[in-house]
Amino acid sequence: MGFDFDEVIERRGSWSMRWERDPPEVIPLWVADTDFRAPPAVLAAMSRRLAHGILGYSVPPAPLRDALIERMQRLYGWRVEPDWVVFVPGVVPGLHLAARHLTRPGEHLLLPRPVYHHLKRAPEGAGREFTEVPLTLADGRWVWDEDALAGAARPRSRLLMLCNPQNPGGTIFRRDELERLAAFAAKHDLLICSDEIHADLLLDVGKPHVPIASVSREASRRTVTLLSPNKAFGIPGAGCAFAVIEDADLRRAFSTDHHATVHDASVLAYEAALAAYRECEPWLQAQLAYLRANRDLVEREIAATPGLAMAHVEATFLAWIDASGLDVADPYRHFLEHGVALSPGRQFGSPRFVRLNFGTRRELLAQALTRIRSASR
Ligand SMILES: Cc1ncc(COP(=O)(O)O)c(C=O)c1O
Repeated sequence: MGFDFDEVIERRGSWSMRWERDPPEVIPLWVADTDFRAPPAVLAAMSRRLAHGILGYSVPPAPLRDALIERMQRLYGWRVEPDWVVFVPGVVPGLHLAARHLTRPGEHLLLPRPVYHHLKRAPEGAGREFTEVPLTLADGRWVWDEDALAGAARPRSRLLMLCNPQNPGGTIFRRDELERLAAFAAKHDLLICSDEIHADLLLDVGKPHVPIASVSREASRRTVTLLSPNKAFGIPGAGCAFAVIEDADLRRAFSTDHHATVHDASVLAYEAALAAYRECEPWLQAQLAYLRANRDLVEREIAATPGLAMAHVEATFLAWIDASGLDVADPYRHFLEHGVALSPGRQFGSPRFVRLNFGTRRELLAQALTRIRSASR
């Protein structure tokens, strides 16, 4: 079955976060959702539920938990037990629950920079101290500066935040890199909170995603893994997420006041997630092929634009563009004035960068890249 990722679907007027903010002449390529219709099987499952007509309180569905467990085993050879799975309404609440409940006042966290802003907002919101450890470019990949990481550990360090695949930067961390991170965590007795929401968005064939919890029993016991079909299956406004936590004490701590602080996901979200995991592999593969070609277009255009540079994007639909070669004070503002709304790099900790979401129609992407090129003359 063919899927049409070039279809023009008007999002203005649909309460889209990305499409409502800027005037109509601006092409918005910032917040990380895609402009593609959700998979047909997802829409069908949600429609069936609507036709049933009752939208009462629900419980986290066992078939969805089983579909997640089956997926982890099939894709990563990672055996997850049913009671390790905690349902959360999104990955972001999971990040905040981890920072609040897995550390105590006075304890310290380690996180990468640049990184998706909620990995930093979580310790800020919890009132914990933290150190941002720089990522560095090595052989064209954004990886942890392991010397800086070693130097950042403190006696009261308790939690290491990881984003794998990395947003922004697009790195798929390799098993040996994750084994070293897990060994570092073991050496300093750190817990790990690993945001793996982009795990299904692998663009480079032959580079597998490895959940850090799967590298050893020891790593599994100290890790909270956050997963969700939201990004890869185009349902971030209607989806749910999971925290996989082997250790029962950690699981209890993570879930302490779960229902007092965050609500359960909706029954429509459960339907969407279940259909995504069970029925949408062909759709996902078609989308990945489309995104790969978008990624190649972005990389070609940025390489040909003086003043801009970017590393190869192994995963995600997000390009992390270094604009420090441009003679402009604020690259985000500059491109906005030239008709393209990107995410400002300062949001992730690097003000000289911008992040471009290429999860959109190729024709629109090409138009945006033309504007970016002429803004860089
Ligand atoms: C690394 C990362 N984590 C979490 C999220 C959002 O997760 P959710 O919508 O499930 O709360 C995003 C969205 O951009 C993300 O890039």
